[in-house]
Amino acid sequence: MKKKKWLVIIMAGLLMLSGCGSVTDQPVKSIKIGISVYDQYDTFVAQMMSAFNSYATKKQELTGITINVEIYNASGSQSTQNEQVESMIKEGYNVICINLVDRTDPTTIIDMAEKNNVPVIFFNRELVEEDLGRWDKLYYVGAEAFESGIMEGELAAEAFEEREQLDKNKDGIFQYIVLEGEVGHQDSIVRTEYSVNTIIQKGVPVEKLGYAIANWNRAQAQTKMSQLWEEYGDKIELVLANNDDMALGAIDALKAQNIPQKDWPAVVGIDGTDVGLEAVRDGEMIGTVYNDKEGQAASMLELAYTLSTDGDVSSIALMENNTIRLPYIKVSAKEAKEFTPPGAAGY
Ligand code: GAL
Repeated sequence: MKKKKWLVIIMAGLLMLSGCGSVTDQPVKSIKIGISVYDQYDTFVAQMMSAFNSYATKKQELTGITINVEIYNASGSQSTQNEQVESMIKEGYNVICINLVDRTDPTTIIDMAEKNNVPVIFFNRELVEEDLGRWDKLYYVGAEAFESGIMEGELAAEAFEEREQLDKNKDGIFQYIVLEGEVGHQDSIVRTEYSVNTIIQKGVPVEKLGYAIANWNRAQAQTKMSQLWEEYGDKIELVLANNDDMALGAIDALKAQNIPQKDWPAVVGIDGTDVGLEAVRDGEMIGTVYNDKEGQAASMLELAYTLSTDGDVSSIALMENNTIRLPYIKVSAKEAKEFTPPGAAGY
């Protein structure tokens, strides 16, 4: 009889030591969210990360749960990013958020995460559907690239119709160049295609003079624009840039060549970064398309928080294939003065 009692006590002690039962019922006191970005100097991604950090602080205040956020820079190397994920898994991060370097190469990350049962939220650089569908704890937060292309095309078409002086050679055709982001990035391919098609659909005939790849980067865009200007000069009536930084790089090139602003082509971008919006307000750009970094950051935080605590994602408005996509907002020159970013509900 006595022996049995001791056995029960020992068994209970062992269970407590091994962390079974009682431990899982304990409320979560702190969580660890690990993030790896493809390039910490990318303007849009950097601004999204700073929104994420400030929302995490707010969420911590609201919930009393310590939220540790660590952001790693993959510096444009997929193998570096894979190593970062490996060490985040070893260090026990509850959830990992990945801004893929190479959006076609998420396999190593997915395999490691699945093996160790660590959910992954991909963001901004969209992986293909088949990869996202490979495990039920993979998510994507971003936006619909085509929407931004359509809005950029509308801004260009509206400007052509409203401002006669943009048709410099008076041939009724909008002669354009494109400054493209990275080769193979969903936002480069899709924005370019949809913006041009939209201008045409709006009844404005177009002629493509040239294009250049400038990797979302202002300095690269300035160099590329100088070259294109040398080649086509005043024939360029429209600069369609896949993002604001490249639109601003094109403007830097025009300024460096001392071209008076009245002779500039129309320049249009996407993102609505602080500097981008300022250029629209100043009349240097004809418009931009707001890429809702606050909405994306807040959605990613809510999802990461939920996955790290009770894991019940039923309260999260997930769309098809575990995705969350925030809408873009068109900001024309007229709207820019009144425009304030939508911000994130609850923060
Ligand atoms: C796009 C954004 C670009 C750049 C890129 C990086 O959505 O418009 O400015 O940040 O993502 O992946």
